[in-house]
This record gives sequence, C-alpha cells and structure tokens, in this order.
Amino acid sequence: MKFLSEQGDNTSAAVIGMGYVGSTVAAVLAGEGVDVVGIDVDPTLVAQLERRHCRFSEPGLPELLFAGLDSGRLRVTTDYRAVADVDVVIIAVGTPVRDTTLVDTYLRGACRELADHLRPGQLVIVKSTVPPGTSRSLVAPLLAGGGLVPGEDFGLAFCPERLAEGQALRELREFPIIVGGWCADSTAAAGAFWQRTIGAEIIPCGSLESAEVMKLASNWWIDHNIALANELAKLCGALDVDVLEVVNAANTMRKGSGNVNILLPSVGVGGSCLTKDPWMVWRSARDHGIDLATVPAARQVNDSMPAYTVDLITEELGRAGRDLADAKVAVLGVAFKNNTGDLRATPVLPVVTKLRQGGAEVALFDPLADAAEVEKLFGLAPTATAQEALAGADCVAVLARHDVFDEIDLVALRPSLASSCVIVDGRAYYSRETIDRFRRHGFAYRGIGR
Ligand SMILES: NC(=O)c1ccc[n+]([C@@H]2O[C@H](COP(=O)([O-])OP(=O)(O)OC[C@H]3O[C@@H](n4cnc5c(N)ncnc54)[C@H](O)[C@@H]3O)[C@@H](O)[C@H]2O)c1
Repeated sequence: MKFLSEQGDNTSAAVIGMGYVGSTVAAVLAGEGVDVVGIDVDPTLVAQLERRHCRFSEPGLPELLFAGLDSGRLRVTTDYRAVADVDVVIIAVGTPVRDTTLVDTYLRGACRELADHLRPGQLVIVKSTVPPGTSRSLVAPLLAGGGLVPGEDFGLAFCPERLAEGQALRELREFPIIVGGWCADSTAAAGAFWQRTIGAEIIPCGSLESAEVMKLASNWWIDHNIALANELAKLCGALDVDVLEVVNAANTMRKGSGNVNILLPSVGVGGSCLTKDPWMVWRSARDHGIDLATVPAARQVNDSMPAYTVDLITEELGRAGRDLADAKVAVLGVAFKNNTGDLRATPVLPVVTKLRQGGAEVALFDPLADAAEVEKLFGLAPTATAQEALAGADCVAVLARHDVFDEIDLVALRPSLASSCVIVDGRAYYSRETIDRFRRHGFAYRGIGR
C-alpha cells in the first residue's frame, strides 16, 4: 500500500505535540504495540514525562503512558530528527482561536519542522482541530517546503480527534475514526493505520475538507444543543416546572435515526473545544460569504449562564432575607467539567468574580483541581476541606458535580451552615427525593431550570 507498508506488525509513529490529545493518542498506540515517539517543543513537558509525571488528569492515562515509557514502546523528545525513523506522523499541536481567528503559530511551527525531516513514503495525519481548508492550503504547502510532493512522496490525511475528557481512553479506542485524505491513497493508508493499530471502525470521507468540517459540525451541534437546554431551563424556571422532567420526557421521542436528545442545562460551557470550535466554523463560513446565525446565538446563550446563576443565588438569598453583599457563598466544584479538575475557561470563574463584585464572601472547594492553579486563576485559595468552605455559608453553590461530593452530607452539616441556607444547584441535578430531603431539613433549593 502506498504510504504504509503492507507488513503491519511493526508500525511506528511520531506524535507531534504531547499535550492532552497527543499524550492520549501516543499512550493508546504504544499500548497497542506501536513504536511511538512523542515530540514536543516544551522541554519541561518532556522532562516531566521522562520522570513519570503526567500533567493531565485523565483516568488511566498516567498508567498507560508510564507503561509505554517503561516498556520502551514510547519515548519522548524535543528532537524532530526522530521523525525520520517512523512510518506515520500524527500532528496534535494546539490550535487556539483568538477573536474568531485561528492562531496557527503552533501548526505552522510543527509543519515547518516536519518539512525538514519528512522522508518519502511517510504518512502525515493531522489530528488538531482546524478550519476547513487548512490541511490543504496551510499544512500541505508547508510540508512540501522540504521538496517532497503530497500525494506522491508522502501521504496526508485529516482524522479529527473526538474524545472527551474523563472517558478519553475508551472513546479513542471505540469511536469510529473519520478519515479524509489528500488523495485516495492517503485515505486508504490512514484508514489501514487506525484499523491495524486501534482496530476501530473507519469512516472514510470524500476529502480533507469533509473530515475537517465534520469535526466542527459536531462541536457546533453540541454547543447549540446546550444553548437550547439552557434557554429551556430559563423558561422552565419562570414556569416553575422541572427542566429535567421536561428534558427526560422530550428525549423519549424518536426522530430521524435516533431520539430527540436535549443535553443538560448548567452554569455554563467551558473547556478548550466548545468555546472555540464554533467560532472556527463561524469564521470559516464568513470567509465564504455565509453568515451563521446559530453560532453566535448559542455562544451568547451559553456565555450568559454564569450571570444567570449569580442572579439565582442573589434571588434565593433575597427570599431568605439575605443580601448578597453580606452573604457567604460556598462554591463546591470549580472545574468546567464534572469529575475533572480542569479549569480551562471554567464558567465558575465569572460566577465567582460576579459574586465577589457583589460583595459576597466566597469560599471555594474542589478536591480535584490543583490548589495552586485555583488560587492563581481565582485569586483566592481554595479550602482544604468541604467543612471549612461550608462553615457559616448562607448559600451552597454546587457548580461542578463531582462524584466525591456524594460523601458530603449537607443535611448532617446543617448545624454548621447559616440558619437560612440556600442550595443552588448549578449542575448537580439532585433527585426529587434529595431535594425534598434538603427542604425537610430547612434548606431552600434552586436549580438551573428547577
Ligand atoms: N482537549 C481536548 O479535549 C480535545 C479534544 C479533541 C480535539 N482537540 C484538539 O486537539 C489539538 C490539541 O489539543 P490539546 O488539548 O492536546 O492541546 P494542548 O495545548 O494540551 O497540547 C498541545 C501541545 O503541542 C505542543 N506544541 C506546540 N507547538 C509545537 C510544535 N511546533 N512542535 C511540537 N509540539 C508543539 C505544546 O507544547 C503542547 O504540549 C487542538 O487542535 C484541539 O482543538 C482537543
């Protein structure tokens, strides 16, 4: 097969960019018996991995990375010369967006470095999320800068990464892999590579652009769906009906090849993908003369949720006869995602900022987030225990729903809280029974849309 040897027993790969995605891909491939070299420009990251420190909190990732490093199947370096020895090169560098425009510095840097080290017969797979047309008009010409011709001397494919934090290792192995190639040979080689190594189902696309748009379409859909859920929650809140009851019932309706699938409302959307990928697609459409109204609408709705949550807190405190300016608010969970300590673009930050601007005393507790990082981001040191955060609190705002919070029995801790204490549920989605129990024990309860 062009761009991949027929002999599949000893495939080797280089992963460019050993961040969260690159480390996960590299660890999984090494676990499947591929000889992997991870290349990153960050010497600190490489040194950390070499001394068996993983900076990413992903269940099972450190173990898999370290097993790969210990076995010699995986090695890490800052030296691009290692590319010469591999069959397949996977690009997983960051592609941030600033003011709706792709910051392509890292991608350009990686391609320029690669151009000097590519050799005939290799296959390059782009995994970084990019605006449609980037693989063809930016990656290919830069790679060709070393004198090799795409489609003739080396293969080029775009295979988007679709994993979600928290279940990345499973999703990487189980999700079908989308493959869009520069040419039919590139598509075939990339499909064969993933089938041979991970063994997942392959979904070939007709072009690089088709695969690039597919990735953006997914995150556009997710962000838009959450915006619908958030607006539905605002409506349900005003009607005094439970949004979860509405969502659960609505989702039983069959539509197309599945069901209506309204996602859950919450304090807001954070992380590095949903906050940027919709803008990537919006900008790309605009460059093609198309105005996508749904992207800014969804972004605006989701960005409004932290302020909406602060309004709920203020309103509930008011009902309890308390003023935000004299209240203590204990925030449980500061990460953008449940069961992670990930603080990237966390919607909890604007909540805390607004609460403090309103004069509230805020205490933060999140056992999954790094305390130093929390202090740096929020300008406020988190408490070491939930009890410390909760002591004397007029409001308990549960803003990330970590399983470890199940161990905090608010009813048992009731005596240490303010006499009129309000629970604001930003994404804990407590059951009706739990809410009734809270109310029986003198708590007021308010959720997003409940
Ligand atoms: N984080 C996610 O959940 C997720 C999910 C799907 C897709 N993606 C996409 O995957 C890509 C990577 O995301 P991430 O979260 O791993 O980013 P990240 O910031 O964690 O990692 C990027 C890494 O690339 C390295 N790098 C930058 N320039 C380099 C160069 N020239 N050569 C080698 N290394 C270089 C950086 O040092 C960093 O370690 C992005 O395009 C992102 O949109 C991310």
